[in-house]
Amino acid sequence: MSLDPQKMPRHIAIIMDGNGRWAKQQGLPRIEGHRRGSEIVEEIVESCRTLNIPFLTLYAFSMENWARPPEEVNALMSLLKEFLKAKCQKLLNNEIRLETIGDISRLPQDVQEVLADTKAKTAACDKMTLVLALSYGARDEMMRAIQKVSAAGLLSEGSPPLSPEVLAKYLDTHFMPDPDLLIRTSGESRTSNFLLWQTAYSEFVFTETLWPDFHESNLIKVIEQYQRRERRFGQTSDQVQDRAI
Ligand code: FPP
Repeated sequence: MSLDPQKMPRHIAIIMDGNGRWAKQQGLPRIEGHRRGSEIVEEIVESCRTLNIPFLTLYAFSMENWARPPEEVNALMSLLKEFLKAKCQKLLNNEIRLETIGDISRLPQDVQEVLADTKAKTAACDKMTLVLALSYGARDEMMRAIQKVSAAGLLSEGSPPLSPEVLAKYLDTHFMPDPDLLIRTSGESRTSNFLLWQTAYSEFVFTETLWPDFHESNLIKVIEQYQRRERRFGQTSDQVQDRAI
């Protein structure tokens, strides 16, 4: 492995795409693609833990996914519940805290309960945070944040102008740094309403690999690609390399 430990991303966000196409290629029902996808979730969480990545955010169910056929939505909910119940002990053993972003009040009651239980049990784990984006849409998150800001009286006359830093405190992601690296699998090159605010300066990597085929070796290759990039945050190359004239 040729990763530079000094240049590891602190936060990786992943759009796990291609489960359906993988299943089709194998002649299997779509849900089998999601099932295989959940095995890859386990593998990639473990890899990130081993690589000492402090935050991993996975786009597991988008706001727009509610419009999928009810059988697929129900199957995804069952899979999520099964996964959380089966892997809670493993999260604890690996000292991984579970968090969520998104409007989880829309999830079925039993899924909300198992999420609350897993979050409570892992709350003190501090080696890594696994964040599941569930019933998540960036525009919805921003609208909810604006409503919270307004309810807090921060938009009333006489209040100081709202700053990006203050607004960020009201986003679902307030407890973590912005992603350094955003990965999308399956050859699609769009962000699909994922972390629109937080990825302003993230490095994007789009890979052809379908999520059910995305293993640790693929993750390492993507991180190598990330480490070869120069992050300038709007500055010049000389400035970021401290060669300013
Ligand atoms: C996109 O693939 C994937 C999803 C909508 C669901 C992702 C869910 C998992 C990986 C499994 C469950 C998650 C956890 C955390 C246990 P797609 O169905 O849109 O694929 P396609 O574009 O090829 O049809």
